[in-house]
Amino acid sequence: MDNTVLFVDDEASILNALSRLFMETDLRILRAENGEEALAIVRGEPVAVVVSDNLMPGMRGVELLSKVRNISPDTVKVLLTGYADLPTAIEAINRGEVFRFHVKPWADDEVVRTVEEGVRRYQLVRSLRLGDEGALRSIAQTIELKDPYTRGHCDRVAAYALKIASGLRLPEEMLRSIKHGSWLHDCGKIGVPEAILNFPGRLSERDFEVVKKHPGWGAEVARQAHLPEEVVNIILYHHERIDGKGYPTGAKGKEIPLEARIVAVADVFDAMSTDRPYAKGYDREHAFRVMGVLRGPALDPELVDIFLVALAAP
Ligand SMILES: [Fe+2]
Ligand SMILES: [Fe+2]
Repeated sequence: MDNTVLFVDDEASILNALSRLFMETDLRILRAENGEEALAIVRGEPVAVVVSDNLMPGMRGVELLSKVRNISPDTVKVLLTGYADLPTAIEAINRGEVFRFHVKPWADDEVVRTVEEGVRRYQLVRSLRLGDEGALRSIAQTIELKDPYTRGHCDRVAAYALKIASGLRLPEEMLRSIKHGSWLHDCGKIGVPEAILNFPGRLSERDFEVVKKHPGWGAEVARQAHLPEEVVNIILYHHERIDGKGYPTGAKGKEIPLEARIVAVADVFDAMSTDRPYAKGYDREHAFRVMGVLRGPALDPELVDIFLVALAAP
C-alpha cells in the first residue's frame, strides 16, 4: 500500500488531533507513541509519510527520522517541533533528513497539504523506480488527468521531440531518454494544486511562482528515483529559454542541455496548437508563424528549423 501515513507523538491528544484531520481522506493512518514503536512499523511495511514530534522520551524525532531514512529511503519525513526547538528542525532540513517541518501549534490546512504532497511524492518516486515504459507512461497519463487540457500532450510531445532527435541522428539510448523525458517533463505538476493548474485566466504572481516550481520538484524526484541524467535534464530545463529568461535556473543558449532544448520546441508547439483554459489553440499556419517569432529568443533556431521541415514533410 502506498498511502500509509504514520504519526508519532508521545501525547495521545496530539495523535488524535492529527488523525482527525485525515478522517475524510483515503489515506491509511497509523500512530505510534514513541520512536521504537514507529521504527517497528517502518521495518514491517511500506510507509509513505512519517510525521514525528521531536521532543519525546527516549528517541528524539530527529534521530527517529534519520533511522527511517536508512530503513526506507523513499519515505517522506516531516518533523513537528515546538518553537524553542526550531534550530534542531532547521539543522535537520539542511542535512536533507527532513522534507518539511511544522511548528506547534500547527495550521491544520498546512499540515494536510504537506502530508498530501508527501504522499504524492512518495508514490511518484516508487513508480519512477519501476522504470519500465508502462509505469512511466501511466505517470504521464496521471498528470494529464490532473490537467484535462493536456490530454494526449505527453504522447504528442514525445512524437514531436523524436522527429527532431531523428533529424539529428542521435544514438538509440538518447532517443529513449527523450521519449521518457517527454512523457515525464511535467511530472512535477503532481506537486502543484489543481486549483492553480486549472485556473481559467491569467495566474496571479503568487500562483505563478508555485507553477514555476514544477520543473525543480519533478527533477528532484526523478533524480531520487535514479532516472538517467538526460531524463532529469529534460524535466528540469524544459521551461528555459535561449535568451536566459526562462525558469527555473535561467540557463541560456547551450548551457541548456540539448535534450531539453529539443523537448522545449516540441512542448511549446503542442501547447499552442491545443486549446487551453484561457485560450483556443492556434491553427497550424498560425502556430508556424509563432514558432518563427520564438525561434532565437526562446527556442533553439536550428532545432526549430529541423522540426518545421520534419512537420511539413508528408
Ligand atoms: Fe512544464
Ligand atoms: Fe508540457
